[in-house]
Amino acid sequence: MKYPKEYIDEIKTRLKVSHVVSKHVQLKKRGKEFVGLSPFKNEKTPSFTVNDEKGFFHCFSTSEHGNIFDFLMKTQNLKFGEAVKTLALQAGMRPYTFSKADEEREKAWREYAGIYSHYVNFFHNELLNNSDSKLSLNYLKNRKLSLETIKSFKIGYVKKNLNLFANLEKKFTKKAIKECGIFYFDEKKNIFIDRFRGRIIFPINSISGPPIAIGGRIMEKNSFFAKYINSPETQFFKKGNNLYNIDKARALSNKFEQIFLVEGYMDVIGLNNNGIKNCVANLGTALTDKQISILNQFFNEIVICFDGDESGYKAAVRAAENSIKELRPEKQITFLFLPKGEDPDTYITKNGKEKFLNYHETNKILIHEFLFENLKKQSNNSPTSLAIIEKKLRYISGSIKDQYIKKYVLDYFLGKISQLTPNLSKGKKFAIKHVAALSETKKIYNESISISKEQLQEFSILYLVINNFNFFKNNSNLLIDLNFITTDGIEVLCKLAEIIKSNDEINLDMLPIEKSMLEKINKFASVKHISKNIQRDENKLREIFNEMKKDLKNLFLDKQIHELESKFSKDMDQTTLNEIIELKKLQNNN
Ligand code: CTP
Ligand code: MN
Repeated sequence: MKYPKEYIDEIKTRLKVSHVVSKHVQLKKRGKEFVGLSPFKNEKTPSFTVNDEKGFFHCFSTSEHGNIFDFLMKTQNLKFGEAVKTLALQAGMRPYTFSKADEEREKAWREYAGIYSHYVNFFHNELLNNSDSKLSLNYLKNRKLSLETIKSFKIGYVKKNLNLFANLEKKFTKKAIKECGIFYFDEKKNIFIDRFRGRIIFPINSISGPPIAIGGRIMEKNSFFAKYINSPETQFFKKGNNLYNIDKARALSNKFEQIFLVEGYMDVIGLNNNGIKNCVANLGTALTDKQISILNQFFNEIVICFDGDESGYKAAVRAAENSIKELRPEKQITFLFLPKGEDPDTYITKNGKEKFLNYHETNKILIHEFLFENLKKQSNNSPTSLAIIEKKLRYISGSIKDQYIKKYVLDYFLGKISQLTPNLSKGKKFAIKHVAALSETKKIYNESISISKEQLQEFSILYLVINNFNFFKNNSNLLIDLNFITTDGIEVLCKLAEIIKSNDEINLDMLPIEKSMLEKINKFASVKHISKNIQRDENKLREIFNEMKKDLKNLFLDKQIHELESKFSKDMDQTTLNEIIELKKLQNNN
């Protein structure tokens, strides 16, 4: 039985090839690709390459070639179904169970995508080739779109009196055409009517490429009709799960760190028309968690660039409050507000790419800064309004999932509030120090992407021990049960524990630790930015240390669970499964 294409595609879009491969082969980035030693052959010089953009690996010495599923099948000796199960699990998806209904859904999907493709191609050709469509082609040309852009987005024009229903019926079932959302039934006339008639149409593609919905714009100004209409939600098109242009933009994720998130079809198209290809639109809906997580999967920075009017600003506030939850150390979300009255399309069409990028460089604002500024605007500095702001800010930072980011963002907020209230005990100095720590941390985080999560965590723990020897002498029990994972980390920890036990005089300049390791610890221990503030507060130190110990244990368990899961996918052995369940319980209790 075949897995539905959508399910397989969903796994592919959630997992980069390099992520999957790097669990088994050590990869190094080289230009757009990654290289490593071939898993198919013993070799000294790397001939194995991974290309996330194209979604495949290639081994030059053995000619092995394929996608993530092929990789697991070939290197781990899995059957296709097992590879799907393993990767689905890795992608955080539910295992797939087949049923009669699935078969039907798969068939329905093929028909659905077929109808949309047929419809989109038909009216795109009409726009380009039929003289009846001149008016609409001129409309697009007046909006400065090049032919290349029109073609690349397959823009079309649906003539008022051309009904494709009968034509489609030759190839597809009536039921499928009725359900695809392009037509609605007119009870009075007893016929199906094309909801996009008389409109310029913009196909909305699924992340894997085929069109699954349509947006349609009227050309007339101040018409009685809505300016834009979209396909209704169907079984295969859910607005909040999709982004306009994600299919093309994601293929560029190796070239760009950033993705511009804009509001409308024409914004994406206008940016593309002027050479900015890394952009998507959320199509006038509120930004969803799902949309953020799709973008996070491919890009390190989301630049939210909404229209320079009040509704754009409001949408940005909503987007910020919602998306800050997903902020992670290696990810950034920034906002860009255009001059009043402009949207990305009008701005770039008037000013060109360079000006747009310059404007972006000078005007972008980080998400937490924006949220603070927005609330500050609403305050009149009275005690009640300040209290409300603090409460809201605490609520916002509390919603952030990543523990480190949560800490630093709260720190930033409190620092900023204390600037507003200089008479409160902590004063200005405190605040400034904390703001600096945040951006510095961010920088280090960016540099540290090449270092594993486990290493980072170990570095922080070691940093605390090295810088608080006396505390740990009196609290050596804290060092029991530390789940260190890396050999370097374990070695340093053992040496430090010995010194602590020995009662010898401690000379920080003469620690028996390799210099390069000490340098790394000093550079990458993220805790160093807060450690100065906690050094004199033993309870705080203990609290933070215990928290880090817990986090490390979680990583340790994660790793074990992961190994067992890939074992299980091969042996399907009940004892392996039991072990996994036990570990997951431990993790829940941690
Ligand atoms: N939108 C919609 N229904 C409307 C108006 C807008 O679905 N009645 C969505 C569309 O996806 C549109 C986006 O919101 O692309 C932004 O709307 P708007 O700013 O009004 O349009 P523009 O993108 O500026 O389009 P244009 O430049 O063609 O006027
Ligand atoms: Mn516009």
